[in-house]
Amino acid sequence: MRRIRAGIIGTGLIGPVHIGALKRMPYVDVHALADAGDDLAQKRAKDFDIPRFYGDADSLIADDQIDAVHICVPNHLHYPIAKKALLAGKHVICEKPLAVTAEEALELAETAERSGLVHAVHFNLRYYPLMRQLQQMVSRGDFGRIFSVHGSYLQDWLFYDTDYNWRLETNLSGPSRAVADIGSHWMDLIEYVSGLKIRAVYADLATMHPVRKKPKQETATYANMMAESGEYTEVPISTEDFAAILFRFENGERGVLTLSQVSAGRKNRLAFELDGSRQSASWESEQPNQLWIGRRDKPNEIMLKDPSLAYPEAAGIMTLPGGHNEGFHDASLALLSEVYEDIRRGSASKPPAYPSFADGCRELQIIELILASSRDQCWKELP
Ligand SMILES: NC(=O)c1ccc[n+]([C@@H]2O[C@H](COP(=O)([O-])OP(=O)(O)OC[C@H]3O[C@@H](n4cnc5c(N)ncnc54)[C@H](O)[C@@H]3O)[C@@H](O)[C@H]2O)c1
Repeated sequence: MRRIRAGIIGTGLIGPVHIGALKRMPYVDVHALADAGDDLAQKRAKDFDIPRFYGDADSLIADDQIDAVHICVPNHLHYPIAKKALLAGKHVICEKPLAVTAEEALELAETAERSGLVHAVHFNLRYYPLMRQLQQMVSRGDFGRIFSVHGSYLQDWLFYDTDYNWRLETNLSGPSRAVADIGSHWMDLIEYVSGLKIRAVYADLATMHPVRKKPKQETATYANMMAESGEYTEVPISTEDFAAILFRFENGERGVLTLSQVSAGRKNRLAFELDGSRQSASWESEQPNQLWIGRRDKPNEIMLKDPSLAYPEAAGIMTLPGGHNEGFHDASLALLSEVYEDIRRGSASKPPAYPSFADGCRELQIIELILASSRDQCWKELP
């Protein structure tokens, strides 16, 4: 069996999730990693037992033994690194959001499509097994007509004005924060499970902490770093902590989403309900192995993840029997397994089962529409 060699750029919070998934795949070698500077890269290569390391992304892309590049760095670096990697003939798996502007994302999507290479965006939440089960149930008509989809994505790791991360800086993160960082996951997931396509948005964004205290020492993603010592600089914040968004879908149906990164006690909770003409569904990412099914005329049901009770398409991405819970790492494994099947065949399936650069580009177009809607306080439609 031909082995495929992967290179990972960025090993903070999410890079190790990619590494962990790839190490569980029988025909993939994590050949090298790159991080910011030789010292850090060397340390991380030792931590993860990866044979080669590079102190910058360009050197990893220039390694001609690498077939596929994973981009796990702050958002502003996605576009230049993805473009270079594609032009160097590498398959690319990029973290979300694909870029910081829709223009960059479109260029990447077009370059990727022209290249004939495999390209994917790590919208991993689609790959919780019950999300594929729900997608199958909806597409087979089990829910009837979908009246509406409503929900939220709430976090508390930026609750205090002393919480700080690169995501708060627009030059690193882009012009949107809560919407691009977590809203993109919700919108991708909702379009995937419901089959509905967002056509128009009406958004109201808010920044609860217009000034934050940036610790003089760098902080890790999700780290609870209080600037207790007074060693901080006051930094003005222009991106949103909160968003309320109304959606109209292409078929005229409605959706509502609340996003917040300042909801005390909500760690990383994506939740939604989907109301159909036959039954409803409710799911949340912190209990991913349970799907609530709501009925008017008979008792409600909690469907537990169990390959023996799921549709074959969903059972196919479950790695364990019922009662053996699958989590965040398993979702990435399921996504990357489908991506690497295409890499093994040498080209992307048409259409790919996994989220592609076209999906990443669509998210950026919707994000820009949401920013414009909040600014102008009116409905905005996709062209
Ligand atoms: N899909 C998901 O569930 C998910 C979860 C978390 C983060 N993400 C995305 O992953 C990306 C990274 O987020 P994170 O939370 O892991 O960030 P992080 O800050 O924890 O890690 C970023 C990594 O990139 C490295 N880096 C920074 N600049 C670099 C450079 N110039 N060259 C090489 N390496 C560099 C850092 O040293 C660090 O190792 C973001 O785009 C984020 O949106 C996705």
